[in-house]
Amino acid sequence: MKLICQKLILVLSFIFFCYCQNAKGQTISNNADNQIEQKVDSVLALMTLKEKVGQMNQYNGSWDVTGPASEVSDKVKLEKLKNGEVGSMLNVLSVKATREAQKLVMENSRLKIPLIIGYDVIHGYKTIFPIPLGESASWDLDIIKKTAIIAASEASAAGVHWTFSPMLDVSRDARWGRIMEGSGEDPYLTSKIGVAKIQGYQGDDLSKNNTIAACAKHFAGYGFAEAGRDYNTVNIGEHELHNAILPPFKAAAQAGVATFMNSFNELDGIPATGHKILQREILKEGWKWDGFIVSDWGSIGEMIAHGYAKDKKHAAEIAANAGSDMDMESYAYEGYLEELVKEGKVDLALINDAVKRILRIKFKLGLFDDPYKYCNEEREKTEIYTEENQGFSREVAKKSIVLLKNENNILPLNKDVKSIAVIGPLADDKDTPLGNWRAKGETNSAVSVLEGIKNAVSPTTKITYQEGVRILTEEYPKGRGFLMPLNFSHDDISGIPAAVNAAVNADVVVLVIGEVALQTGEGRSQTNIKLVGKQQELLEAVYKVNKNVVIVLMNGRPMDITWAANNIPSILECWHLGSQSGNAITDVLFGDYNPSGKLPVSFPYNVGQEPLYYNQKMTGRPYNETHVTFSAYRDAPKTALYPFGYGLSYTTFVYNNLTIDKNEISPDGEIKVSVDVTNTGKRDGEEVVQLYIRDLVGSLTRPIKELKGFEKIMLKVGETKTVNFTINEESLQFYTINKIWEVEPGDFELWVGGNSSATLKAAFKVVD
Ligand code: BGC
Repeated sequence: MKLICQKLILVLSFIFFCYCQNAKGQTISNNADNQIEQKVDSVLALMTLKEKVGQMNQYNGSWDVTGPASEVSDKVKLEKLKNGEVGSMLNVLSVKATREAQKLVMENSRLKIPLIIGYDVIHGYKTIFPIPLGESASWDLDIIKKTAIIAASEASAAGVHWTFSPMLDVSRDARWGRIMEGSGEDPYLTSKIGVAKIQGYQGDDLSKNNTIAACAKHFAGYGFAEAGRDYNTVNIGEHELHNAILPPFKAAAQAGVATFMNSFNELDGIPATGHKILQREILKEGWKWDGFIVSDWGSIGEMIAHGYAKDKKHAAEIAANAGSDMDMESYAYEGYLEELVKEGKVDLALINDAVKRILRIKFKLGLFDDPYKYCNEEREKTEIYTEENQGFSREVAKKSIVLLKNENNILPLNKDVKSIAVIGPLADDKDTPLGNWRAKGETNSAVSVLEGIKNAVSPTTKITYQEGVRILTEEYPKGRGFLMPLNFSHDDISGIPAAVNAAVNADVVVLVIGEVALQTGEGRSQTNIKLVGKQQELLEAVYKVNKNVVIVLMNGRPMDITWAANNIPSILECWHLGSQSGNAITDVLFGDYNPSGKLPVSFPYNVGQEPLYYNQKMTGRPYNETHVTFSAYRDAPKTALYPFGYGLSYTTFVYNNLTIDKNEISPDGEIKVSVDVTNTGKRDGEEVVQLYIRDLVGSLTRPIKELKGFEKIMLKVGETKTVNFTINEESLQFYTINKIWEVEPGDFELWVGGNSSATLKAAFKVVD
């Protein structure tokens, strides 16, 4: 019997060997899902425990570190790659480098299981698009999908198989540096954008050579870090977790996202990386999701610092049992998993399950068919940073701009204006617009606002430029700049008089201020969300001598711009808009494009209001203006300076005739909602029509309002369009006291309008 088994293994090994040898194209495999499962099983059957653990091990390609430095030397890494003890690498880039890494595995290891190579392609690979928070302000799912298609095509042309994007962390806190990396404060908007991104990256066929695997991160709760301090504790109740944080992840799982990444934070005492309920019960069993979960950088080992694991071996045991399938840079699985299985502390069945998940994605990507399928020098030369991609970057950038204020219609400017003073520390900055997480975006490669304006105005327009003040006290640190602290608050005001002088003599001032690229992003939390350094002094000095000021704000988080909002006539929210930033901003400044962006996150009056979000709860004391004992602040409003969903246009829109086709439905019924929107201004323009609902009484308290639908429409001058929405079970249900998603009968209200403060209202009932 033993002999027969041995022979069988040999035969199977031979078949698999031939299949691997046949790796460059004409193979016996194809990607139909049922066949993939058989192949996964047949590979798994050949693997030793060491090889299985190897698949669960991910190494960094040391030259582009995004976390604490790697513990293992390059020499050891090379040996492990050759031995088939590494399943994945991150930060290995270019056709040459990815081919080399892959060759080490394919030419030396016993089973020749290809590597999956990942990279943080967050808002573009080399053609850089707006930061995700900025892009989300477009509320335009088609262009959001397209930026992911382009990012995937550029990344795959450089040998990358997998991006660690989209970040689906709902965040309500402007202090949190990583708020720039997500879609803001709303679970519904984040879900829709997340799905668009996933569809863009993965396409309808992961095995094509221009699609890559996506990664829904960070699972879960990372955006709710206490006090907005990165990596901090998250305390959130079970119901809020399900209702506010998990919906985008569920949508991603349902959209077939290939991978998830867990998160650094703990949730109610349990680090997410060791969270069995989250990873096994909810994601894998509950949502029946069959991809794999990669840990965040070192997050398995960090369970020791959390005080949840006593040492690395213990951490490996907790993480593997909890469902973390791949270890990014903790060296915990490679160090201890075999031992833990032998000691019976981790069931072999769980290892098998993890490995199958990883192999499944490798098969789906077509890597077994051709491990070098993304290694194409020709594509690398011709498909990255193309003119066409640049053109699209400009397109999405202009659609991401939000017009916050435009008193006396100071905007759009006339291209024949006699003189413009372009002032501010970010006015001629070619780097800041690239934002954080700019992948291979080259330093100083963006179009600055000054360049954009020069490109646009008539030859007779006089442009004067003055920097005024600086934000950073020194240049960006070179090399591992991503991790270095920045020194802000430059206090040199010697440039202000020249700026004032330029302003005095100009017809209009374009003042470009805000945050530099690395002021937001990982580890970039701040307690001060005002203009840093002497920017406020510059702003006030300029405004004193010229009232025609347009602020171009560049930033990665909501900022406290209350003074500007009270004084400056015109403010454009321009985020960090990517490679074509200056041209896109100019398109809006001069009216070649009518701004249509809407805020995906509330802007506060001051930092003390944070976390601030529109879909708050009512509280027991919501409104009593006559005495102090109600839920408010004594020194600031409790509402936002600029609310979620807000954004102006150069034209005006009027909403009329809100109708609902029924006043009463059953829990699984449907209501058709319609509203007429008219362009009453003097320019064609786009409007994001938004639908909100409120469940008045529930088995749990319910938010004041929740976004449940939106549509971006184009209206010509004088045109009216009827916009239709459907309210159904999906819109009405929530995670109730019964710990299930269900619709509770009762009274509901709904609003339709151009932002979350919409007042046009209707009401209906759900009856059993
Ligand atoms: C971040 C992840 C990122 C990973 C790899 C971590 O520090 O939290 O979002 O994907 O590094 O670069």
